Order: sequence, then structure tokens, then C-alpha cells
Amino acid sequence: MKFFIDTADLNEIRDLAATGLLDGVTTNPSLIAKAGGDFLETVKEICDVVPGDVSAEVTATDYHTMVREGQRLAKLADNVVIKVPLTMDGLKACKTLRNEGAKVNVTLCFSSAQAILAAKAGATYISPFVGRLDDIATSGMDLIADIVQIYDNYPDIETEVLVASIRHPLHLVEAARMGAHVATLPPAVLRQLFNHPLTDKGLAAFLADWEATGQTILEESEAASATAGRG
Ligand code: E4P
Repeated sequence: MKFFIDTADLNEIRDLAATGLLDGVTTNPSLIAKAGGDFLETVKEICDVVPGDVSAEVTATDYHTMVREGQRLAKLADNVVIKVPLTMDGLKACKTLRNEGAKVNVTLCFSSAQAILAAKAGATYISPFVGRLDDIATSGMDLIADIVQIYDNYPDIETEVLVASIRHPLHLVEAARMGAHVATLPPAVLRQLFNHPLTDKGLAAFLADWEATGQTILEESEAASATAGRG
């Protein structure tokens, strides 16, 4: 399963990219507005930091302008993925941009019927929003299970299921259980995945027992430069 992070915050992206666990980034106009920088510059910088796919969303709603915006975004870097909304014009733009060789992420998907259309339009990714469905008392994860099953019925479908609007670690675990290809995680949720109280408790006990032996693995000077990131 690929891990993307869902943010336009460059500090978060740099920090989490350093773990080596990131396969890509998704942004949307709201995340760009929250981060506060120039859109095109921000996308270029993110593409430099993360070698994987970086989704950047068009803001037009008509086919012709969406295609022009998509072409401009595609020129920013080789790893840009054009994000288009799941509308008739959006899917038309998806088809055109795919024919021109760009990767396309179809966003704002809330039904299996929409996901079938996106696959027909040749989308690289379909982004069903699980959290926003849960918010209206409809199971977001049921939608993921349905789309994965439908796509599995047609081996020629290459569209990857990118689980979006993730709100907590269980969304990620269930998405992995269902065989979704990608999860885009808010940075806070990615950080939560590392945590378990028994890990903390076990580590504290190991360290206390180790300290009692009076031994060290590294010489004091080696340990100091390793801590400073020089070793
Ligand atoms: C996906 O690409 C979207 O940017 C995102 O996951 C939306 O999440 P939200 O519902 O938390 O805004």
C-alpha cells in the first residue's frame, strides 16, 4: 500500500519525507489556502522534496479551462498529478489530460457509480472521501470495499483506489485490509500510526534494565556525534 500525506505544509512534508515512508502528497485548494504560500511555487517545492506523485488540483469548473490549468500544472515537475473534480467536465478533462500523457487524480468521489465513471475516463487515481461520508452517517469504508471489488472484476482497469478524507488510524487499517492501493493521511494521523502504549512501556523497561548493566554500544564521542546527526 502506498502512503501519501494530505497537506501543503512544507515543514510537515520535509519532516515526514525524512522517514522514508512517503510515496507521495495530495493537496487541494483548501490545504493550499491553509498553508498560505504561492500555489505554483508550493507545488514545485513539494515535488522537489518528495519524488513520488504530488497531486495539484485545478480550480476551473469548465472543461477547456480545466485542461489549460492541468497542462500548466503538469509542466511544473515530472511528478505532478493533475487533480480534477468528479463532474462531467472534470472527467472529460481527465480523458484529455490522460491522452496527453499526464497522470490524473479524480477527486470528490462519493459513490461507486462515480468511481466506475472515473475508471472509464482512464483516471490514474480515484479519491473517495471516507471521512466526509462518515460525517453524514454513511459508511465511507463500505464505499471503499465496493469500489475495490468492482475494480477487481475488471483486470483492465488500472485506476488505483486512493482513500481520502481519512480521519483516524482505523480508516487506514481497514483500507489496507480491503486492498486499497493508496491512503492519503493527514500528518497527524500518520504520526498516530507509530504510537502504542505497550511500545512506550516496553522500551522504558528495556532501557532501565540496560542502564543497570552500565554498558554502552558506542563510545561517548561517537554517541554525541550520532545524536548531533554527524555520525
Ligand atoms: C484528498 O485528496 C483531499 O485533499 C482530502 O483527503 C480531503 O480531506 P478532508 O475531508 O479531511 O478535508
